[in-house]
Amino acid sequence: MNNLAVVYYLFFTSVIAVAAAVNTSQTITHFVNGLSLSSADSRAIQGRLLGNVESLEVVFSGASIASSIVVQLACYTAQIVLGTSAVASAGNQTEVEGTWSEACWEAPTCTILPNSDQDVSLAVKIVNFFQTKFAVRSGGHSPNPGWSSIGQPGILIDLKQLNEITVSSDAAVVSLGPGNRWGSVYSALAPYEVTVIGGRINDVGVGGLILGGGLFHLSGEFGLAADNVQNFHVVLANGTIIDANSDQNTDLFWALKGGGPNFGIVTRYDLYTIPVYNLWFEVLYYTPDQVPDVLDAFAEWQTNGASVDNKSTVAMVISLDSVVVGLLYSQPTATQPAAFAPFYDLNPAEVALAGSNGTITELMELFGETGSTAAERHDYRSASSKVDAELYKEIYAFWVEQATSVYNQTGANQTFVLQPIPGSLIDAGNARGGNPLGLPYENMQWWTTLIDWVDAADDDLVRGVSIATTEKWQSLATARGSASDFIYMNDASRDQNPLGTYGSSNLAQLKAIAEKYDPSKVFQRLQNGGFLLSTA
Ligand SMILES: Cc1cc2nc3c(=O)[nH]c(=O)nc-3n(C[C@H](O)[C@H](O)[C@H](O)COP(=O)(O)OP(=O)(O)OC[C@H]3O[C@@H](n4cnc5c(N)ncnc54)[C@H](O)[C@@H]3O)c2cc1C
Ligand SMILES: *[C@@H]1O[C@H](CO)[C@@H](O)[C@H](O)[C@H]1NC(C)=O
Ligand SMILES: *[C@@H]1O[C@H](CO)[C@@H](O)[C@H](O)[C@H]1NC(C)=O
Ligand SMILES: *[C@@H]1O[C@H](CO)[C@@H](O)[C@H](O)[C@H]1NC(C)=O
Ligand SMILES: *[C@@H]1O[C@H](CO)[C@@H](O)[C@H](O)[C@H]1NC(C)=O
Ligand SMILES: *[C@@H]1O[C@H](CO)[C@@H](O)[C@H](O)[C@H]1NC(C)=O
Ligand SMILES: *[C@@H]1O[C@H](CO)[C@@H](O)[C@H](O)[C@H]1NC(C)=O
Ligand SMILES: *[C@@H]1O[C@H](CO)[C@@H](O)[C@H](O)[C@H]1NC(C)=O
Repeated sequence: MNNLAVVYYLFFTSVIAVAAAVNTSQTITHFVNGLSLSSADSRAIQGRLLGNVESLEVVFSGASIASSIVVQLACYTAQIVLGTSAVASAGNQTEVEGTWSEACWEAPTCTILPNSDQDVSLAVKIVNFFQTKFAVRSGGHSPNPGWSSIGQPGILIDLKQLNEITVSSDAAVVSLGPGNRWGSVYSALAPYEVTVIGGRINDVGVGGLILGGGLFHLSGEFGLAADNVQNFHVVLANGTIIDANSDQNTDLFWALKGGGPNFGIVTRYDLYTIPVYNLWFEVLYYTPDQVPDVLDAFAEWQTNGASVDNKSTVAMVISLDSVVVGLLYSQPTATQPAAFAPFYDLNPAEVALAGSNGTITELMELFGETGSTAAERHDYRSASSKVDAELYKEIYAFWVEQATSVYNQTGANQTFVLQPIPGSLIDAGNARGGNPLGLPYENMQWWTTLIDWVDAADDDLVRGVSIATTEKWQSLATARGSASDFIYMNDASRDQNPLGTYGSSNLAQLKAIAEKYDPSKVFQRLQNGGFLLSTA
């Protein structure tokens, strides 16, 4: 460059820098003024941000999402705005290990731990202003990497401090912070002798489960957890806090009943309680060679038991070395319910618990503590079909061979679980105004699997079993005329597309609702993972 060129170069770059600085400083001032801070705090943030004008300029121009410098500025701002006790730093191991699956253990730039809906609103305004990647965590039970976890540069919004449980005076409604685990919820409701439709494992979180639907033992009679929501209290992308229920924001109400993390951050769920506390159950163990008979009995019960008596349900968990069947009836009874007749013809290897009256508390002590709690890698996967005993048995034979081989190679434990979805579940949901899942009125089963393994090098091999099994469900069920496309979000693995199975009209409606409540697409663009409409 000659001297003149240098002069021109310096002249023009400084003009651009000055123009940018003026604009950016206006933007910064406007943002900081909106935070209602003390003048000392305002000055501190403003000074820090103005010292990084060039990095911020890139973000404000819309050219890119936040760089690591900008995410650090966002974390610094969050510390001042929310207080240092509400922001955990990058190296905080409690936060890194806050997801159930070790495959999700990542260290974000910082973790924001809101103490109120106002805090969540401020957190959303901060990620929005700085355009930082973020993830939202409630119970952290999703095994999908990046759904409720995020690495650097990125911010985790962990809702575990939002763990209030408030029961209405007539015990008809319970208000739950998303950071609760279902075990605490059932315990809190026990004194009132009522329960809710929530998770079947005590450790699973409230926040994620309801947004994906939520299947409980009593769902055949009362519907999904989402069907039993009276009101969602939600922080929208621009930080506005609203309620969605059958009177207000009714489109959002419908969308949140299974539409996932696409619309806002839910800071409170008001759930109708269920007037069931005393019930009846029996626990039976079978040997693996009895599985074909157990599957026959299950299909027979689905056809002639569940469809006749919606108080009866069956919880069945098959693994390579154990077969556990729980027969549950939603009221106490002096005699074995007739609906379970197909099971009474089998000879269980062991009657672990003879049929007896018990309470929800006892039920959750017995069934709710089963999933693995070790520091391990996990996954789950979803498939569905119509009721078809031959199909069940053929898929089981396919699965058991693969799962055994992979167990021999890696030590991975896998389960084979058929979840009953009777027509009455769909009726119960419709009676509460319906949901976006687009379920056909049909007696179905939702297959799932829980997979536990240790070594990251085995990820593909281990996941290959459940991937091959879901493909087998599709091909064999199609050939037999028993196919169902539905994929249940709460059991769906990272590469599956549950929203894509809700039906094209429901999907289009969900997209329109997301556009209405989040026009700048914060949850689609900046959210790190999750079953997003932008990829459905
Ligand atoms: C052992 C085990 C047992 C299970 N049992 C059942 C069962 O009985 N019934 C059933 O239906 N499912 C069950 N599930 C599946 C479970 O519902 C999902 O994994 C669910 O996502 C867990 O919720 P969470 O709050 O713990 O999840 P997280 O991992 O914290 O979140 C899951 C997803 O929801 C988003 N999210 C969480 N909270 C909010 C919020 N407040 N606002 C907006 N987005 C949010 C997250 O960003 C993430 O995308 C089980 C899972 C496991 C591992
Ligand atoms: C500065 O902001 C104004 C509006 O406030 C906008 O019209 C203009 O394009 C911005 N200039 C630059 C260089 O970004
Ligand atoms: C880590 O974060 C948790 C909140 O999840 C907090 O209670 C704890 O004090 C933090 N630990 C350290 C060492 O800062
Ligand atoms: C179980 O409950 C039923 C119905 O209330 C009752 O008749 C029966 O006696 C109870 N059984 C026992 C063992 O208490
Ligand atoms: C798994 O290992 C067991 C015991 O070594 C063996 O009997 C079985 O044939 C193996 N099965 C498969 C499918 O590899
Ligand atoms: C359950 O069965 C009872 C008795 O047949 C019936 O009245 C009720 O409507 C059913 N519930 C649902 C949700 O289908
Ligand atoms: C598999 O299950 C067995 C028996 O319960 C247990 O000892 C082992 O630790 C489990 N392995 C994994 C990887 O979870
Ligand atoms: C926030 O977003 C909602 C939904 O798009 C909109 O109705 C509301 O006016 C917005 N609020 C502000 C302050 O911009």
